[in-house]
Amino acid sequence: MTELLIKGGTVFTAEGPRNADVRVNDGVITEVEPGLTAAGRAVDASGMYVLPGALDVHVHSRDPGFPEKEDFGTLTAAAAAGGVTVVLDMPNTVPAVDSAGVLESKAALARSKARVDFGLWGLIRSTTTAEQLEAMADAGAVGFKAYLAYSFSLSRKQVLYSPNGDDPDLESPADYGTLARLAPALAHLGLPVAIHAEDPTVLAAFRRPVLTYDDLLASRPPEAEAVAVSAAAAVARDSGFHLHIAHLSSALGLQAAEDAVSLGTPMTLETCPQFLHLTAEDFGRVGAAMKMLPPIRTRADRDALLDGLKRGVISVLGTDHAPHTDAEKSAAFGDAPSGSPGVQTLYLSSLQLARDAGDVWLAPGWVSTAPARLAGLQESKGSIAPGFDADIVIVDPRSKTRVSSEGMRSRQRHGALEGLEFDFAIKHVYLRGESVARGAGKPRGRMVRPAPALR
Ligand code: NCD
Ligand code: ZN
Repeated sequence: MTELLIKGGTVFTAEGPRNADVRVNDGVITEVEPGLTAAGRAVDASGMYVLPGALDVHVHSRDPGFPEKEDFGTLTAAAAAGGVTVVLDMPNTVPAVDSAGVLESKAALARSKARVDFGLWGLIRSTTTAEQLEAMADAGAVGFKAYLAYSFSLSRKQVLYSPNGDDPDLESPADYGTLARLAPALAHLGLPVAIHAEDPTVLAAFRRPVLTYDDLLASRPPEAEAVAVSAAAAVARDSGFHLHIAHLSSALGLQAAEDAVSLGTPMTLETCPQFLHLTAEDFGRVGAAMKMLPPIRTRADRDALLDGLKRGVISVLGTDHAPHTDAEKSAAFGDAPSGSPGVQTLYLSSLQLARDAGDVWLAPGWVSTAPARLAGLQESKGSIAPGFDADIVIVDPRSKTRVSSEGMRSRQRHGALEGLEFDFAIKHVYLRGESVARGAGKPRGRMVRPAPALR
């Protein structure tokens, strides 16, 4: 039996921060009490925070499909360095994860490279059947994702950034009708349904050449988000499937979501650190590294999202980690692809937001406890308590970390948050009791599956 004792830190527990030692046996937390004595390895955590590993519910590994942008090895090395011990990978890899067979081969590939645990989202296409959803659930999908404004290339088996025109190779995006048609099956399976909430008809009305950041904002108005949220929520409300709003970016979208929540719609709201640390005014400094969909918007949008997070209406922070190559991102603004790496800075950027909001202990809830619940993993992940996996992050609140290209473990070195400084540093990261932050040794990541009773 291998033992690890983390001594003298301030531990995040369900009852709040507590001075305690944490004993780990064979990768599982066995005791959280002050004054424990070591029988094996001991780590001094005095003056440090002892936090549950983060679960990033929104990453794009690019694997398989675009290994030059990222793969499961680089993704999970970045995650491990940043205290993220579970990543939930989105299905827009190539081939897209639209069947149990594709999900199983992606799982095998990920297992061979993953340095942290991982879960896989399945894709809802406009042609997806209830049988396909059920097979993906049986194969271990953590939930399903519908890209409301993105078409599907039949020849490339790939989700594309824009809705279809008349091209017969492009299948139209999943829409509210798709969700309504599949609602009974989705409710029966009990898995969350995440949506990329931009309504294609609103986007079509505002389509224009995108040469500048102002063009990007004008082409992706907040009405697109609000309409998508309201319509999807209207479908979810009575059918009872759990709706998850990915990367909420606007005050208008948040208002639409809050209205739906207040009507009793079963739903969770996610936003991302980049929508809270940056606004459109940062474009002059950051450039195309902050080009993403939906876009980073105005101060008023940022303030509304921060307020929603503080009030607990938004419960989950995910990163929408969406790397490309630095060369691709250096193209003319209109040609640069959308997305930024983010997984490595999830924890520290969230601790900073929580501290600036007046309570640093809110952060583990946003990045760990609430995400674990969303993924049906609340019995094994997201808490520091006996019986839970020893996914533990030790953070030094007296050191600072500057986000730099040299420190980046992802293939894309220049992300949207580059240059920011956080008043914390990651000291140790344990995945089921073993140190993973430095990325050495054999990949040990396992696939997580929602606990059947929680589905
Ligand atoms: C994501 C990607 O590149 O996969 N890009 C982005 O700008 N957010 C797609 C997505 O999450 O919508
Ligand atoms: Zn998206």
